[in-house]
Amino acid sequence: MARPKIALIGAGQIGGTLAHLAAMKELGDVVLFDISEGTPEGKALDIAESGPSEGFDARLKGTSDYADIAGADVCIVTAGVPRKPGMSRDDLLGINLKVMKAVGEGIRENAPDAFVICITNPLDAMVWALQKFSGLPTEKVCGMAGVLDSARFRHFLSLEFDVSMKDVTAFVLGGHGDTMVPLTRYSTVAGIPLPDLVKMGWTSQEKLDAIVQRTRDGGAEIVGLLKTGSAFYAPATSAIEMAESYLKDQKRLLPCAAYCDGVFGLDGFYVGVPTVIGAGGVERIVDIKLTKDEQAMFDNSVAAVKGLVEACKGIDDSLA
Ligand code: APR
Repeated sequence: MARPKIALIGAGQIGGTLAHLAAMKELGDVVLFDISEGTPEGKALDIAESGPSEGFDARLKGTSDYADIAGADVCIVTAGVPRKPGMSRDDLLGINLKVMKAVGEGIRENAPDAFVICITNPLDAMVWALQKFSGLPTEKVCGMAGVLDSARFRHFLSLEFDVSMKDVTAFVLGGHGDTMVPLTRYSTVAGIPLPDLVKMGWTSQEKLDAIVQRTRDGGAEIVGLLKTGSAFYAPATSAIEMAESYLKDQKRLLPCAAYCDGVFGLDGFYVGVPTVIGAGGVERIVDIKLTKDEQAMFDNSVAAVKGLVEACKGIDDSLA
């Protein structure tokens, strides 16, 4: 059987890391697409030359021609500009919306059967626009945010409790931004919910609140340190986890930005929710019941996403 084809639209920091991970994990052959002359070809060749040492079987190709993504099984989109210090994800809206239009058309014409994972920020608005521009079914277009946000939460919790990250699970809902909603009662250490661990004296409510805030600010913390760009190792790893669940029909239950219509009280918006990702794409959205406080945080997050979607409609008439 032919190897799956993975098209990476954007061959920058995240795109290059995605290509390396996809090859090392032998998820399929990789096509790196970018408009920056020489970048995709250079990265593809460099990664291919790591193959003999690492021992992976995967072909890598760099291109600036959409025809080369033809028939891709998975497209992961990072095309656009990242944040610089002092910028919010929302500041990227105008520039990256134009990029989503070009990318959406490229995917529609060349890879209409692909499972599409968007990473470009501001995520929840960009994935909404990408689905509209591409015209692909909503269950085949989703955004990567929740896996990354919950990975950050899990990492910080594992440091606080001095336990393996493998035994920490965490749930983060809502938009990918300052309004994200970390759900502490569904976040656990080996099944013990965080509120119980507070009662058991493993940590204090103050420390837990600080970890929640650090999770919300996780992207900005890295931007502040790097100064010339934003996070790329963990975002790429998170998207690969989603792509692998699709390609291997693992049916992992992962938080991702999914099209919500008739769930979570929403009517046609992308926002971070628990999903099952399998061969059908986003096969199921787990419509959990939120407490009053969680619902208020979720509503606040959704309002921020809706504001950005309205701004997109204002910029591009075809989205209205
Ligand atoms: N088509 C294809 N590629 C494009 C286009 C386009 N129309 N416009 C820009 N690009 C490419 C750039 O040439 C660059 O190589 O997108 C790439 C983006 O890479 P980086 O600048 O290194 O950004 P990266 O850190 O990978 O982040 C990409 O993901 O997390 C988000 O906020 C982040 O929106 C940003 C995106």
